[in-house]
Amino acid sequence: MREVAIVGAGMTNFGELWNSSLRALFAEAALEAITTTGVDHLDSIYIGNMSAGCFVGQEHIGPLMADQIGMAGVPATRVESACASGGAALRAAYFEVASGASDLVMAAGVEKMNDGADATDVLATASDQELEAYHGITFPGLYAMIARAHMAAYGTTEEDLSWVSVKNHQHGALNPKAQFRNKFTLEQVMGSSLVAEPLRLLHCSPVSDGAGAVILCPLDQAKKYTDKPVRIAASAQATSAMALADRRDPAFLDAVQLTAERAYKQAGIGPRDIDLAEVHDCFAIAEICCIEALGFFDKGKANKAAENGLTALGGQIPVNTSGGLKSKGHPVGATGIAQAIEVFEQLRGESGDRQVKDARYGLTQNMGGSGASSVIHILERN
Ligand code: COA
Repeated sequence: MREVAIVGAGMTNFGELWNSSLRALFAEAALEAITTTGVDHLDSIYIGNMSAGCFVGQEHIGPLMADQIGMAGVPATRVESACASGGAALRAAYFEVASGASDLVMAAGVEKMNDGADATDVLATASDQELEAYHGITFPGLYAMIARAHMAAYGTTEEDLSWVSVKNHQHGALNPKAQFRNKFTLEQVMGSSLVAEPLRLLHCSPVSDGAGAVILCPLDQAKKYTDKPVRIAASAQATSAMALADRRDPAFLDAVQLTAERAYKQAGIGPRDIDLAEVHDCFAIAEICCIEALGFFDKGKANKAAENGLTALGGQIPVNTSGGLKSKGHPVGATGIAQAIEVFEQLRGESGDRQVKDARYGLTQNMGGSGASSVIHILERN
């Protein structure tokens, strides 16, 4: 297998983008990646997308998007793994370059969630239809149950959940591309309206539109395109039982732990070597569970991390410097790529006010559903 690098990136703003169509979002991100990298062709394109068919009635988006950027003829494939679609697209692109099959591959992600479809219903298609969605359980409902299980097992409180949101909005306020650039106090988070007890509005990621794209090539060719390539040190994936009720421990994300073990092994490092991480905080409780499964904190011990500043910029392990899904936004198929772009820019020293100093390793953790699919990448400054 060849070593692989990311050499360029492009990303739209995230938000309620009523004036941009699905294809326009993809084209904006993809063309920014192409022009800033200076490539004159692509060998192949992978596009993470959870549900364009349900959100905007458009399936078969591979050729549509290739044509949209003037690249009809290039192989282009949609990759679907619910909210982990972007991470899975990056992994597919990684393997195509690592295998030697192609030299220039784009990994992109796009989702247009604000276009009329009932986002809650569409998102629920990523839960177990027979055991969960049929009974009316939504994603806020599933993560509320995870939160309750964590509270019962470890004494986690509503205040602990709220500190995660306060911290991620502080980070997001520094990110010009974030959907919500406003800061919230603890009292504001705890006073926001209940969505699914104990989760409140400000514990939830929003419904978002947006796209991102990165360009990959073999590491030994990367200097043709940039003097600051970022090496993909690991790409790992795992699955777990789809229905929460079928998990041994609903307060623990076992697929994330399995993926992390595989990623650390491939990179030859451990959790203490990671300098920053973008994790899948679709709900505040998810960030707490993710940083435990990643090994940054012991099981049941991450609930005070945000309150104590351990996961903030300048803390022990900065988590979600982009603002995370909570503040930056969560256009589901684009999220895994946006996470990679945040870490790519951090490792290149291009993150402005939210720069983590001297970072060498950054980790992206993207998951689908209530954690049934999990994808992790570890990136290294080169
Ligand atoms: N965070 C911060 N503010 C939010 C927000 C969020 N998650 N969602 C909406 N808002 C703001 C809106 O901008 C709006 O502000 P305004 O009144 O100043 O214009 C206000 O809150 C109400 O917005 P609205 O769109 O009416 O909210 P809603 O009740 O329809 O939706 C949620 C709120 C939390 C239910 C929705 O964002 C949601 O479903 N999030 C979860 C998405 C999800 O499950 N993703 C997949 C995860 S696996």
